[in-house]
Amino acid sequence: MDAASITATANIDGVISPAADAKISVMDRGFLYGDSVYEVFRTYNGVPFLMDEHFDRLENSATLISMTISQSRDQLIEEIRRTVRASGADDGNDVYVRYQITRGEGPIDLYPSPDLKTRCVIIVKALPPWDPKLYAVGMTVAVPSVRRNPIDALDPNIKGGNYLNNILAITEARKLGADDCVILNHQGFVTEAANSNVWFVLDGKVVTPGSGNLRGLTKNALHKACAAAGVQTEETAIHIDQLVDATECFVSSATREVMPVKSIRLEDATMVHFPAGGGEMTRRIRSIFTEFITAYVGEHSADRLFSE
Ligand SMILES: Cc1ncc(COP(=O)(O)O)c(C=O)c1O
Repeated sequence: MDAASITATANIDGVISPAADAKISVMDRGFLYGDSVYEVFRTYNGVPFLMDEHFDRLENSATLISMTISQSRDQLIEEIRRTVRASGADDGNDVYVRYQITRGEGPIDLYPSPDLKTRCVIIVKALPPWDPKLYAVGMTVAVPSVRRNPIDALDPNIKGGNYLNNILAITEARKLGADDCVILNHQGFVTEAANSNVWFVLDGKVVTPGSGNLRGLTKNALHKACAAAGVQTEETAIHIDQLVDATECFVSSATREVMPVKSIRLEDATMVHFPAGGGEMTRRIRSIFTEFITAYVGEHSADRLFSE
């Protein structure tokens, strides 16, 4: 079976259907206000990668918006399992799993009554078909004029259902001809890409910004994997003016893993170029991460989602 035989499948509060047929109420606060939290993970050989960490982050996002999730973690995992099985996923074809908890259905009123029952929407589909060129050569990124929401306005650690800030940023970057964006904060410091964390090699050090961005689980795993392999990584403030001196750049996320960046367009249109396919450090970190995934999958084989 190949990826094409996975049916994009949805599960809304336990009701499973092809994703194309799934419908949500117009009175749902996720639809009305983006009042929801969500996570995305992928499987490797059927094993959900970093599933506990994704649930921890989901619960943290919910806490940050004062949302009490009505469904238990065990219930959600069981519904994810049922949805994965209904999608037709089997050995040899891994899946993308997105699960979203909306504040639920209620009157049109900004204030979220604590009595609302949260709703769970799960989507299982084939992994994103990244163009192999994005790994073989790398993606292009641009710095847009849109700034990342300040932490004290909308904490980027709320992985919520409103991505307009990031949508505006990537839309501007695409208009500039780039694949993705590197968003700055109001002080000119790098935060993150549209939906991944961004890393640079600067003065020979592997660095990524520690604040102003979503604490990516791939970022965390990379720090851990690199430390175990003897490669030093650091979280530090990175100003746009330093980027002309960067020698390598890559992004990290659950679905992209480690994806090299081949150029960055700064705000004044200066282009900074990086080695095609990633420099030596980027390639090393990619292979360290691959080994980390293999070890993780071996240790967590009991979590496999494809089996009964
Ligand atoms: C805004 C943003 N930053 C970073 C990331 C990377 O996080 P992770 O490595 O957990 O996928 C994501 C992933 O969805 C994201 O949406």
